[in-house]
Amino acid sequence: MTILFRNIKGLVGVREDSAVLRGQELASLTVINQAWLLVEDDTIAAYGKESDFGNGQKMPPEAEEIIDCSGRYLLPAWCDSHTHLVFAESRENEFIDKINGLGYAEIAARGGGILASATKLNEMDEDSLYQLAAVRLKKASLLGTGAMEIKSGYGLTVEGELKMLRVIKRLKQSSPVSIKATFLGAHAIPSDFKDDREGYIRQVVEVMLPKIAEEKLADYIDVFCEQGFFSPEETIRICEAGKQYGLLPKIHANQLHISGGVQAGVALEAVSVDHLESMDAVAIETLAASTTIGTLLPTAAFFLRMPYQPARQLINAGAAIAIASDFNPGSSPSYNMQLVVAMSCIQLRMLPEEVINAATINGAFAMGIGTETGSITIGKLANLLLTKEMPSLHYLPYSFGEQLIDRVWLRGNGLHS
Ligand code: NIG
Ligand code: FE
Repeated sequence: MTILFRNIKGLVGVREDSAVLRGQELASLTVINQAWLLVEDDTIAAYGKESDFGNGQKMPPEAEEIIDCSGRYLLPAWCDSHTHLVFAESRENEFIDKINGLGYAEIAARGGGILASATKLNEMDEDSLYQLAAVRLKKASLLGTGAMEIKSGYGLTVEGELKMLRVIKRLKQSSPVSIKATFLGAHAIPSDFKDDREGYIRQVVEVMLPKIAEEKLADYIDVFCEQGFFSPEETIRICEAGKQYGLLPKIHANQLHISGGVQAGVALEAVSVDHLESMDAVAIETLAASTTIGTLLPTAAFFLRMPYQPARQLINAGAAIAIASDFNPGSSPSYNMQLVVAMSCIQLRMLPEEVINAATINGAFAMGIGTETGSITIGKLANLLLTKEMPSLHYLPYSFGEQLIDRVWLRGNGLHS
């Protein structure tokens, strides 16, 4: 199948080769105005300027489908590198508690939060969980998400964690979205182990990990490194065990407190440290001096009324930054990456160019798929989103709340709702 996109107002995120973008590099986003692009099967095959179309360049064969993109921008599909897409029930009851003044940690201490989600998840069968997750994934893809990392962590029992990871495996097999699975057994200490955290950590390391490795159910390992959850020492111990099984760390760090999570992640050579609402100068410098990507989750800060992530300081220090939705029922019940993009501009003071890079190419690298997707590059997957007509590219984050994604192609196939 060949598809030819003509008269594209702006072809965004064009790169000849792919690397993680750090510091000032994040602001460099190539846009070809008045462009065409050719997709062959599942791959980006060629592109150029409309004015050069047919002038001695590699010419597309008769395309089976021609799409007129007048007035509209074509971007790489979003790469959402941090989600908790698989869960049994939403938690709007806690939403009311939060409006009435309870904090995230207080709700968790009362048995709400992650533990409440774990109870519901353990009661639900695998098929029902899969159906719910597949519907959410489809909706996210229609909003332009072409790659997604999905975590376990609402099981907190051997069976519950395996069930979640098996659901993620089925999503990998059934969806055109590129999916990476992360084992987050160390998301919270379950109530059965409330007086025996060592017992639970041993269960994660000695029982869950070997089974997950045997069934090849995970690509990454995560720990919620936070006061009241897991310490930096425990994070290192659990992630080192994961590394023995080939699972690289991507960890929850510095969300509610300056937890030492960033330093733990850098010491572990984590692929990413995620959240970063609570940062000090040492954490910023440590991250900037490392190869670990800092993944900022502005909608989680928004929903929990936390301070926003210090994106400018991180970029000025030279760090590599990605942004992601953190889609989950407790702290970020939205998978809308266009909203994450808008909030990163408005509240994190990132430039639209920096944000688009952080939500595409750097997000792809935060999932280990930066050479397969995340930019308009010949040979990469044809994972594309076409906007509605817009006066400029900057209109995309500016007009927050307006649904501006018109059509989406994943692996060269147009999505239909
Ligand atoms: O990324 N912080 C830890 N985990 C999730 C929230 C999980 C939940 O509240 O259900 C997060 O914010
Ligand atoms: Fe999270």
